[in-house]
Amino acid sequence: MTPIGLAVVGAGYWGPNLVRSALATPELSLQWLCDLDLARARRVLGPHSTIAGTSSFEEVLADPAVAAVAIATPAATHFDLVHRALEAGKHVLVEKPLTPSVPEGRELAELAQRQNLVLMCDHTYCYTPAVQRIRQLIRDGEIGELQFMDSVRINLGLIQPDVDVLWDLAPHDLSILDFVLPDDVAPVAVAAHKGDPLRTGQACLAYLSLWLSNGAMAHVHVNWLSPMKIRTAIFGGSRRTIVWDDLNPVARIMVHDRGIDLVKAEELGADERQQALISYRLGDMYAPALPEREALRNVMAEFAGAISEGRPPLTDAMAGVRVLALLEAASRSADSDGAKIDVTGIWGAK
Ligand SMILES: NC(=O)c1ccc[n+]([C@@H]2O[C@H](COP(=O)([O-])OP(=O)(O)OC[C@H]3O[C@@H](n4cnc5c(N)ncnc54)[C@H](O)[C@@H]3O)[C@@H](O)[C@H]2O)c1
Repeated sequence: MTPIGLAVVGAGYWGPNLVRSALATPELSLQWLCDLDLARARRVLGPHSTIAGTSSFEEVLADPAVAAVAIATPAATHFDLVHRALEAGKHVLVEKPLTPSVPEGRELAELAQRQNLVLMCDHTYCYTPAVQRIRQLIRDGEIGELQFMDSVRINLGLIQPDVDVLWDLAPHDLSILDFVLPDDVAPVAVAAHKGDPLRTGQACLAYLSLWLSNGAMAHVHVNWLSPMKIRTAIFGGSRRTIVWDDLNPVARIMVHDRGIDLVKAEELGADERQQALISYRLGDMYAPALPEREALRNVMAEFAGAISEGRPPLTDAMAGVRVLALLEAASRSADSDGAKIDVTGIWGAK
């Protein structure tokens, strides 16, 4: 099969990772690296590269050898660049967040559909072996019914000029939640608080609560001010609980057969009814073996696979829109002192 001609746009912090993983993907053939700062693009490519550098997005779109573009520019530029690429008939992989607003995200999703082109969001964590296993464990019913998710993503982060910590970090947690939830469970309400204790002009820490349609709750804590880096998420189920520590390569995921069971009164004998209805389960824990494969390699393989098979990618434009809907609701809530915002209408069908 002829490899798919690709251009990467954006050679800042994240773009070079896309370049590296595209070069390692046999189904793709990297043709261009485009950045407004041409010197930066050339530095990323190095002096001996045969890949062309340019500062002109038009030049990239005009090249018939380019069938797909991967966009790693700041969020505020995504709508314009993705729109132009789709209009030019190119498949698109775009970094999170898809766009700065839900209407723009929907417009791009509809345009991609009309043009019969792949529009994929790089929700990178969904392509880690750990999150793929968590999705399988939850969706196959291994942990029983999901009761809670508790995610902490904190470190000393770069304070971004264009986005607050909610829009910078929470897309990861929200895209993971979207990815692992069974199809019949969806967020129904959101509330958030955020703070800027350093008065930088951007919120540097945020706490986000979500209520799910099955009665479960999810909580996300993101923070740029923590000297200690923590990347953990706990997925509690009625039968088992998954603990994911992304910084522990020895056992990134642990599955605990520990938890609390509630015995219904009608299931007890008459003499037992006076006893507590709560019982604690203290069973085993196991750590599933996970393949060590870089998420971005999986992202590129999925992008190429979706293009060549003419199917939606695992994290399609609507996955991006669902994450945007939650981010917008969380921002609105944080701006109104943590008011609970109904998201039943805006989440959309999976
Ligand atoms: N998936 C992930 O885990 C992950 C991690 C970090 C960043 N990101 C995302 O990647 C995107 C880029 O973030 P970054 O930290 O690399 O930003 P950055 O500011 O370091 O780099 C952006 C680059 O884009 C270039 N650029 C801007 N507008 C352009 C245009 N119109 N045409 C061509 N080039 C243009 C800039 O010159 C700059 O070199 C953001 O959407 C961010 O959220 C994703």
